[in-house]
Amino acid sequence: MKSIFAVVALLALATARPAHHARQAPATTPLNDLIKAKGKLYFGTATDFLDTTGERTDTTYQEILNTTSEFGAQTPGNAMKYDTTEPTQGQFNYAPGQQVLDYAAANGQLVRCHNLIWHQQLPSWLTSRTWTSADNATLQGIMKNHITSLITHYADACYAWDVVNEPLVDGTGALQSSPWLDAIGPEYFPLAFKFASDAAAQVKAATGKDIKLYVNEYNDEYAGTKTTALLNLVQSVQAREIRIDGVGFESHFIVGQTPDRATQAAAKKQFADLGLDVAVTELDVRFSSLPPTSAGLAQQATDYVNSVGSCLDVEKCVGVTVWDFEDKYSWIPSTFSGQGEADLYSDDYSAKPAVAAIQELLAG
Ligand SMILES: *[C@@H]1O[C@H](CO)[C@@H](O)[C@H](O)[C@H]1NC(C)=O
Ligand SMILES: *[C@@H]1O[C@H](CO)[C@@H](O)[C@H](O)[C@H]1NC(C)=O
Repeated sequence: MKSIFAVVALLALATARPAHHARQAPATTPLNDLIKAKGKLYFGTATDFLDTTGERTDTTYQEILNTTSEFGAQTPGNAMKYDTTEPTQGQFNYAPGQQVLDYAAANGQLVRCHNLIWHQQLPSWLTSRTWTSADNATLQGIMKNHITSLITHYADACYAWDVVNEPLVDGTGALQSSPWLDAIGPEYFPLAFKFASDAAAQVKAATGKDIKLYVNEYNDEYAGTKTTALLNLVQSVQAREIRIDGVGFESHFIVGQTPDRATQAAAKKQFADLGLDVAVTELDVRFSSLPPTSAGLAQQATDYVNSVGSCLDVEKCVGVTVWDFEDKYSWIPSTFSGQGEADLYSDDYSAKPAVAAIQELLAG
């Protein structure tokens, strides 16, 4: 039951908001303050500050993004991916990622740095040729240089790194084919964490700060072949006495098809029981057909609450990140034709029912 104290606290938070942050409906929903009061580290969002994206020049977007009571963490959607950070072998482009880090630092926000090793968004110098086991040592060198360079460069500005992103195939739970798998074989996965933990140890020696090292995956939010394969993968790293700190549950869901709260909590708990942190890392809940009905929006609110609630249910769940908060900048419409409205705010910046529902969950 929602107490009167929670309501009073919310009003106090709303009044404390500086004037330039005043805006319509969501002014009373400081999600980050609420989730921190529940013992979590952050409520965060993905963002992109590339030259090609509108976020940089959209002041309404930025007013919400830079409100730390709403979002206590950022994840760069694309700015730190391989094709951006190492477009030419051995020549690093740190600037786009640095913009996100600087912006977050100015607001006192954490950054989940994303990501180091993935089979997608690779530069052409890696994808334009075939790699075989004859290239094992070469690819290990390339992987090590990329991981070490990014981790040591951005250093303690990263709260966490997604070291390996989406390693597994849906359905089968096999490792995704990639230059890393082609040349190094399955051993690439623990090796990536070995290189990352060595680099993180350098950062720790220089700054005293520990960076959390994550594997990030989707369709691991419920029991199944892929989730079991991920458990085995994590244990293969631990069996080699290599550090792995956390598992990301991307949580890209569909309205009405989102796993319930207990199911999502149970999946997280399996990894927490291995001693790992867990986090909801890319939450959005899309409509498979548009426009949404009011019943659909209510269902979407329930779906969001189930996911955020599952994080509350698992002590080692550190926080929740939405995969951007504003429909205008959602990846969904360009990836899933005819689908969308997956984010917390409509493209006119009005808050969807999901915002109030999450606020009520967190204030309860
Ligand atoms: C937040 O963004 C708005 C819009 O760009 C800007 O006017 C304001 O100065 C920013 N505030 C902070 C604390 O960065
Ligand atoms: C690549 O080398 C590593 C040792 O550095 C080894 O564990 C792995 O099995 C090798 N992979 C292949 C495909 O030979």
